[in-house]
Amino acid sequence: MSLKDNIIKDQLPRHIAIIMDGNGRWAKKQGLLRMFGHKKGVETVHEITETCAELGIEYLTLYAFSTENWNRPKEEVDALMSLLVDTIEKETPTLMKNNVRLTTIGDTSRLPEKAQTKFINCINQTACNTGLVLVLALSYSSRWEIVNAVKQIIDKGIKQIDESTFATFLTTSHIPDPDLLIRTSGEYRISNFLLWQLAYTELYFTDTLWPDFNKEELYKALINYQNRERRFGKTSEQISNNTH
Ligand code: FPP
Repeated sequence: MSLKDNIIKDQLPRHIAIIMDGNGRWAKKQGLLRMFGHKKGVETVHEITETCAELGIEYLTLYAFSTENWNRPKEEVDALMSLLVDTIEKETPTLMKNNVRLTTIGDTSRLPEKAQTKFINCINQTACNTGLVLVLALSYSSRWEIVNAVKQIIDKGIKQIDESTFATFLTTSHIPDPDLLIRTSGEYRISNFLLWQLAYTELYFTDTLWPDFNKEELYKALINYQNRERRFGKTSEQISNNTH
């Protein structure tokens, strides 16, 4: 029996978010430049996106470039931007084949113009796809997103606010909160990612570096998730008796 056979098909997370970490360390371990790790990381992005589409996951959010990543050495930032542009161009036919719709969250106005155009083209081209929604977090940070939401609320002169109206001002307003967050590379941090949206998300950490992560590793994370009890602040008894 393979790992995949242990996954309960009707108890899959609707939304998986991933902090793809460890590309640099993977490259260093092989005596290669950091960019080789990012390039290998793209292959993992391809495999995990296809696997999620195949399994029927509704949303996959990938932390591809954080606000803080702008502070990396210029050569790495430039190389990452080129990699993103090349990848999106090269992968659009695969997204079409797998019925995947692309969308982005984050301050994409900070991306180089060429990258913005490529992303807009891909978003438009995949707009009618009805399968997995692939959300790329680009120039994204949660504190930026929350402050940005507050600014819009002030600008609109809104005086009454509750959780659900606040959420409509976040860049994720049309996306359900993640059910499962995966972080690779043995780091136990959230790193300014979806701080509001992760309130009740199940967290899964693995030592595997992102370039080594693969579908079997994803199956392990899903099996682990399916063995948890999500209580949302209730008691275990309430959950098993389905009472309020
Ligand atoms: C973290 O590894 C990874 C990134 C900052 C970039 C992630 C980008 C990709 C996987 C490539 C492009 C992705 C898409 C969606 C096309 P790190 O550099 O922080 O690794 P380290 O902690 O080992 O140094």
